[in-house]
Amino acid sequence: MPHPRPAAFTRRLHLLAHLLVLLPLLLLGACATALSPDEAALVAGKTYVVTGASSGFGRGVALKLGAMRANVVLAARRTAVLDEVAAQVAAAGGTPLVVTTDVARPDDVRRLAEATVARFGRIDVWINNAGVGAIGRFDTVPMEDHARIVDVNLKGVIYGSHVALRQFRKQGQGTLVNIGSVESAVPLAYHASYASTKAAVLSLGRALREELRLSNQPGIRITTVLPWAADTPFFNHAANYTGRAPRMALMDDPGKVVDIIVRASVYPREEVPAGWKARGGYWSHRIAPDAAERISANVAHAEQFEKAGPAPDGSNAVHQPMPAGPGTTGVDGGIRARMEREDAARKTGQAPGPWSPTPPAS
Ligand SMILES: NC(=O)c1ccc[n+]([C@@H]2O[C@H](COP(=O)([O-])OP(=O)(O)OC[C@H]3O[C@@H](n4cnc5c(N)ncnc54)[C@H](OP(=O)(O)O)[C@@H]3O)[C@@H](O)[C@H]2O)c1
Repeated sequence: MPHPRPAAFTRRLHLLAHLLVLLPLLLLGACATALSPDEAALVAGKTYVVTGASSGFGRGVALKLGAMRANVVLAARRTAVLDEVAAQVAAAGGTPLVVTTDVARPDDVRRLAEATVARFGRIDVWINNAGVGAIGRFDTVPMEDHARIVDVNLKGVIYGSHVALRQFRKQGQGTLVNIGSVESAVPLAYHASYASTKAAVLSLGRALREELRLSNQPGIRITTVLPWAADTPFFNHAANYTGRAPRMALMDDPGKVVDIIVRASVYPREEVPAGWKARGGYWSHRIAPDAAERISANVAHAEQFEKAGPAPDGSNAVHQPMPAGPGTTGVDGGIRARMEREDAARKTGQAPGPWSPTPPAS
C-alpha cells in the first residue's frame, strides 16, 4: 500500500506549481494594455453606458472614453459627482449624459437604457462596473449588508445585462463588459459575500455567451474583466467590520485596470484577468485551488488583522453613497499612500493613525 504524502510535501508541491505558473506570467506582465491612437479611433462616436462612473475604474474609464470622443452615459447614485465627471468628459472631447441610477433598482436600470437610446439612438457598449464590498468575518457583517452586496453586485449586473442584451438583439450588435474580480476565481476570506457575487458574475457571463452562440448572434459579445485589488476608493466605500482600516497586499494602479477595461470593450475575450497578478491568481487557482485559497486567506488575515490601524465599523457606501471628497470620488483612492504611512509608523514603533472614511488627499 502506498504511503500517504505528508502535508508539508503536498504544500511544497503546491508552491512549486504556483511558481511554475507565475514565472511566465511575470514575463508577460509588461504586455501593452492601452489602445494605440488607431485603435482609439474605433471608439470615437460609439455609445458607452458606464455604471459606477462617479469614482474609481468607472470614472477613469469614462474620462478615457471622453478623450477618445465617445458618447459616455454616466450612471451612479451621486448626481453632483457625475455632473463633475460629465464636465471633464465634455472638456476631453466626448459627449456625456448623466443618468442618476441605483443599479439595485430594476426601474432605474431600465430608465438608464431608455435615456441612452432616446439621446444617442443605440447602445454600443454597456459596462456593468458599479459594485460594493463588505470586509469582515462573515458572521460579524450584518445580514442586511450581505443582502445589499448581492442586490448591487449580482442583481444590478443581471438588470444591466438584461436591458443591454434586449437592446443589442434589436441592433444585432453590442458588447457587454461585466466587471468581476480576481475573487470571481479565487474566493477571499473576510470578503465572503463579495467574492460570492463576483463568482456569480463570471458564471453569468459564461452562460450568456453560450446562449448567444446557440442563437447565432456573433455581433453580440460578452467579456468579464477580473481585476486584482487596485487602489480606488473601493476600500473606503466598502462596509468594514474588522475594527481596522482596510488593507490589501500588492495593490495595482487603477490606471492600468482602466486601460484593460477599455481594451476589453474593443477586443472582448471571454475572461480577462487584469494584469499579471490577476492572471497568476486565476491560473494558480485552476492548478492548485486549495493552496491558492489558503495562501490568499493567510495574506488577507495578516494585512487586515496584524498590520492595519484602527477604524470604526460601519456600512460606509453600501446602502447610501458617501459624501464627496478625496478618497471617495477620485480614480485613485489613496489607499497605498495610507498603507505606506501605517507601515512607516509601525517601523518606528508608533501606532498607525486612525482611519477616516473621507481621508484627505495625500
Ligand atoms: N478596486 C479593486 O480592488 C477592485 C478589484 C476587483 C474588482 N473591482 C470591481 O470594480 C468595480 C468598480 O469598483 P472601484 O474599484 O472603481 O470602486 P469605487 O471607486 O468604489 O467605485 C464604485 C462605483 O460604484 C458606484 N455605486 C455603488 N453602489 C451603487 C449603486 N447601488 N448604484 C449605482 N452605482 C453604485 C459608486 O458610486 P456612487 O456611490 O456615487 O453610487 C462608484 O461610482 C466594482 O464592481 C468592484 O467590485 C474592484
